Amino acid sequence: MTEPLVLGVESSCDETGVAFVRGNTLLGDVVASSVEQHARFGGVVPEVASRAHLEELVPTIRGACREAGHELADIDAVAVTSGPGLAGALMVGVASAKALAWALDKPLYGVNHLAAHVCADVLDHGPLPEPTVALLVSGGHTNLLLVRDIASDVVELGSTIDDAAGEAFDKVARVLGLPYPGGPHIERAAADGDPSAIRFPRGLTSRKDLKRHRFDYSFSGLKTAVVRWVQEREFAGEPVPVADVAASFNEAVADVLTRKAIDACHEYGVHDLQIGGGVTANSRLRAMAQERCDAAGISLRVPRVRLCTDNGAMVAALGSQMVQRGLRPSSLDLPADSSMPVSQVKAD
Ligand code: KG4
Ligand code: ZN
Repeated sequence: MTEPLVLGVESSCDETGVAFVRGNTLLGDVVASSVEQHARFGGVVPEVASRAHLEELVPTIRGACREAGHELADIDAVAVTSGPGLAGALMVGVASAKALAWALDKPLYGVNHLAAHVCADVLDHGPLPEPTVALLVSGGHTNLLLVRDIASDVVELGSTIDDAAGEAFDKVARVLGLPYPGGPHIERAAADGDPSAIRFPRGLTSRKDLKRHRFDYSFSGLKTAVVRWVQEREFAGEPVPVADVAASFNEAVADVLTRKAIDACHEYGVHDLQIGGGVTANSRLRAMAQERCDAAGISLRVPRVRLCTDNGAMVAALGSQMVQRGLRPSSLDLPADSSMPVSQVKAD
């Protein structure tokens, strides 16, 4: 029997994504991003994102059908991000997915966006070893997860207590006069800098902090330290060594992200680490994660960059896992849940 064909719809932030997945195989994947419309505001504007989803959803569905060589009538199930995310943005995807499921008379799976990020990896590397520790780093999230079953059993070990890692990149970029989104620009600037030029703080790593926040992250102290360091130079009329600041900042983020992820693997006796989210595009983060995993005997899985950022493929991939495991579909009146907890992988 052929594996079921699942349509995935993502609209939790600024990317409208639609994709077809059969089993663990990606057949078509189209993403429309409204990132340029947010650039002049230096961050995602929820109302602008919702409007863009409304405009982009139907063309994105059509594009995914074309790319996959399938019609909507071919699908066996619809999966949609039902949370967490921006309420208005989520509503567009959820309402569309409900309409499709109802009109096609197919089961609907409301899935958790964070678990879907982790699940993207099965499209590149096959079934996820379980348990896996997953580190999710993007503009909206910084979470350390223990994944015992990707379709039903995900535990949050820690998360950021203030800014997300990507947000810190975006804010520091602004201070350095670099455009939004800041991550790629910081990375480019850092290439010519010395990562050990300035010793920026590593948040929540002191012995006292580790007692309460062993696997949590904090980036606002780091951001403030960078701002203060740059301002002191400016007040003194000295040039700001942008490359060194960028490299030292990038190093501090990569250091604390990977250090806690490896510690979590040790703590839970897990031999597999998976990393996802837009910040995973960062080459220093990837390299440091690889070095530290090699040293610790942990195997590292990182999907290709396109699957690290928000897309419909990861949603379809997680829906497909649920269908394959025979899980009960969500109800057709499932809500868009902007604060859906990580532990809830599937909406009821
Ligand atoms: O996953 P994503 O595309 O969107 C969500 O936030 O969900 O992540 C976007 C974030 C932005 O904050 C951006 O600055 C950051 O990922 N980013 C990077 C890099 N590329 C994107 N951060 C560091 N280095 C990069 N190369
Ligand atoms: Zn995301």
